[in-house]
Amino acid sequence: MDRIAIIGGARLTGEIPISGAKNSAIKLMAASLLTDEPLRLTNMPRLADTRFLGRLLQRLGTEVIERDGPDGAETLLTTREVVSGFAPYDLVRQMRASFNVLGPLLARSGQAKVSLPGGCTIGARPVDLHLKALEALGARIDLHEGYVYAQAPRGLKGGQIEFPFVSVGATEHALLAAVLAEGQTVMTNAACEPEITDLAECLNKMGAKVAGAGTSTIRIEGVRRLTGATHAVLPDRIETGTYAMAAAMAGGEVRLTRTRSDFLTTLIDKLVEAGVEVVPHNDGLTVRRDPSRRLKAVELETDPYPGFATDLQAQFMALMTLAEGESVIRETIFENRFMHVPELARLGAEIAVQGGEARVRGVETLEGAQVMATDLRASVSLVIAGLAARGETVVNRVYHLDRGFERLEEKLSACGAQIRRIKGEPEPQVEE
Ligand code: UD1
Repeated sequence: MDRIAIIGGARLTGEIPISGAKNSAIKLMAASLLTDEPLRLTNMPRLADTRFLGRLLQRLGTEVIERDGPDGAETLLTTREVVSGFAPYDLVRQMRASFNVLGPLLARSGQAKVSLPGGCTIGARPVDLHLKALEALGARIDLHEGYVYAQAPRGLKGGQIEFPFVSVGATEHALLAAVLAEGQTVMTNAACEPEITDLAECLNKMGAKVAGAGTSTIRIEGVRRLTGATHAVLPDRIETGTYAMAAAMAGGEVRLTRTRSDFLTTLIDKLVEAGVEVVPHNDGLTVRRDPSRRLKAVELETDPYPGFATDLQAQFMALMTLAEGESVIRETIFENRFMHVPELARLGAEIAVQGGEARVRGVETLEGAQVMATDLRASVSLVIAGLAARGETVVNRVYHLDRGFERLEEKLSACGAQIRRIKGEPEPQVEE
């Protein structure tokens, strides 16, 4: 298993180009099941998760070609025919987003058998809302031995979907099915994340009729068939925010390019409150901090978009470990998303957790140590802490990082970070 070693204390200066969003790319890839024509996705991140989903899609009948296009990495996906409607346990367990093939399979071929994903390290993460949404579109759903058997022999029908609370995955899943349902679908209390707007834009290029994505009410007029299209994956706001916090932690000045600042306003407000300088520009944002001045503690809670993203919570906590005063961080989306706390404590952080609330008492210095990555976002928070810790920090189990951050060591070392990968034994399969 690979490890990442960081020697803390170096300022970061330079430019980091941001990749396409993982959480968008994997849903866009699933959309290729909805048409027999090629879907060309540009600005594609090359990550363990996208490779993994590519393998599942191949089993279902998709031809997946990864290539370098005029604008960087792109993937061409063509599903002339769905050859299998079966997504086995091993594949769905290893990456939850694989579950999202259920809706498109059902919409395209009227049946699917997809494993339930089960829980994961950050919480129980049920899929009841996904299944209710598909039922509202007329699907017959049966659960046996850990599998969802879904059927809609005469096709899906438009319907009313009222989400009792906001779910990104369920909103995307419903969208991926409703575009080919007969008649109108109205979703209320839909998630408003930029990745949903991105998916809707791509589906519309494919001939779908989706209106209102990015707001809490989405209306879909079903169409009979979708066509191929070319779509650029939107920039990764979580990667953007993560490097913004890395720069804030290490000090220095980093320009984040090929991205957008408008979908990070909540994070930017919190960074400014903490004493970080953030200058938005056309192509992204510049983050500046004088490392001789201490950051200030701030209070925040995670919320659905446009609130503070749960996927940035661990990184912000790492930043607060060195802030002056006590910061309070409340996690409201997932019940078990503080696994980074004991690892940050190994570096000398002082954090007390009670239920969904963490109180971080800022310390003057962190000290490098061996730490363990537990999930994708938690592991990058350890890298951020390591950038400012005295001495060497070694992050073990970095396959979690490889799921969601493209060329992380390369991007950080180009800005002066002392970070390197230590190659180890072959990695286990990805696991969320
Ligand atoms: C997605 C993102 C993840 C991000 C999260 C919240 C991907 C691959 N993952 O995850 O990175 O942290 O949004 O922004 O895009 N829930 C139910 N029943 C359901 C579905 C969800 O109870 O059927 C609950 C979940 O357990 C959780 C909450 O709803 O407590 C929000 O989950 P959701 O927004 O669905 O997150 P994901 O789509 O799984």
